[in-house]
Amino acid sequence: MKTIELRGKRGNVDNLDAEVKTELLGEDHKAVRESCVVPGPIPEEAEELEQIYQEMENLNIKPLWTQIDGLMPSTPEPKAVSHHWKWEELYRLAKKSGTLVPVGRGGERRAIGLANPGLDGNTYISPTLWCAIQYLQPGENAPEHRHSQNAFRFVLEGEGVWTVVNGDPVPMRRGDFLLTAGWNFHGHHNIATEPMAWLDGLDIPFAHQMDSGFFEFGSEELTDQSTPEKSRSEQLWAHPGLRPLAFPGPMSSSPIGRYAWEHTDSALNAQLELEDAGYPGVYEPGHAAIRFSNPTTGGDVMSTIRAEFHRLRANVSTKPLYEVGNRVFQVFEGQATVQVGEQTFKATKGDIVNVPSWQQWHIEAGNEGVDLFCFSDHPIFEALHLNRTFSPKGI
Ligand SMILES: [Fe+2]
Repeated sequence: MKTIELRGKRGNVDNLDAEVKTELLGEDHKAVRESCVVPGPIPEEAEELEQIYQEMENLNIKPLWTQIDGLMPSTPEPKAVSHHWKWEELYRLAKKSGTLVPVGRGGERRAIGLANPGLDGNTYISPTLWCAIQYLQPGENAPEHRHSQNAFRFVLEGEGVWTVVNGDPVPMRRGDFLLTAGWNFHGHHNIATEPMAWLDGLDIPFAHQMDSGFFEFGSEELTDQSTPEKSRSEQLWAHPGLRPLAFPGPMSSSPIGRYAWEHTDSALNAQLELEDAGYPGVYEPGHAAIRFSNPTTGGDVMSTIRAEFHRLRANVSTKPLYEVGNRVFQVFEGQATVQVGEQTFKATKGDIVNVPSWQQWHIEAGNEGVDLFCFSDHPIFEALHLNRTFSPKGI
């Protein structure tokens, strides 16, 4: 039995695939629009109509009938395009910047942002998300500040940096996923002898376009320069299924500062082991997946950003999907072919590929399998009941 998810509701669509597909993909509507020809004015009205248009323009008024296709397309028509950024190029430029550009008050961070080629030169990887590589030399401090934008970090490799979030020093190591939810003071310092680079993700474009951003400087020196094995947030919150009674009730963002790689890796391995033993657990055959969650709600770690980790066995393909919203993938280990619409990207360790809204996508693992970190803006659309998902193979 095949089902679809439409506006969050699931329904049986046995034998309705073609009809549902045309509704979801807007093919019928596109055909109707293309077949419609709006009759032009008769000659004696043409001059008067032109005068009305001119008058409207002078008064900052525009008629809907001349622009409905752009304002209300049959299906989403994102300006963002899918793109592939190679880690070796990102890292090379971050490293070079590390020798030329100091980090400190003013620029605040040595971060190089990924600019989607479809988004008019803005440093946005999608209309909602920012994605950057941040680079910190040995002994460097990135001063504390806070902003209403939500932020996370994902560590591809290396260690030796502690990020201090509201005075709580959080170690950053390979495979760790770290949170800095909006309006929490944070700074970083590198105590190692090697530089370190990591992925930053934020909802900067969403906040910018919605005019909702606030920013405040904090301490120039980090407020706690200790380097504990575990942050206080982990000591309190990172125990499976156990929450402290001292903090009842839901929190808008997860209180866990660091989702340690050992837990992510172990959870993914367990799913594949269960599959080998013939038990349910994997997301689809050969595809283990977890979502980082807020232990006080069971929902997403932050209100605007979803984060997941996917592990595909060798040569396994994910199901093709259309989704409202934007995804970004980073290869953690292995190789994968990412198909987005008509484009095919061969991605290796560290490479980043984005999927714009309502573009059909799927991923095929290479011969060694692949580990993928993924983040998206899907919580925004789900909160507003604007989410839609469709797969030609059924959900
Ligand atoms: Fe920041």
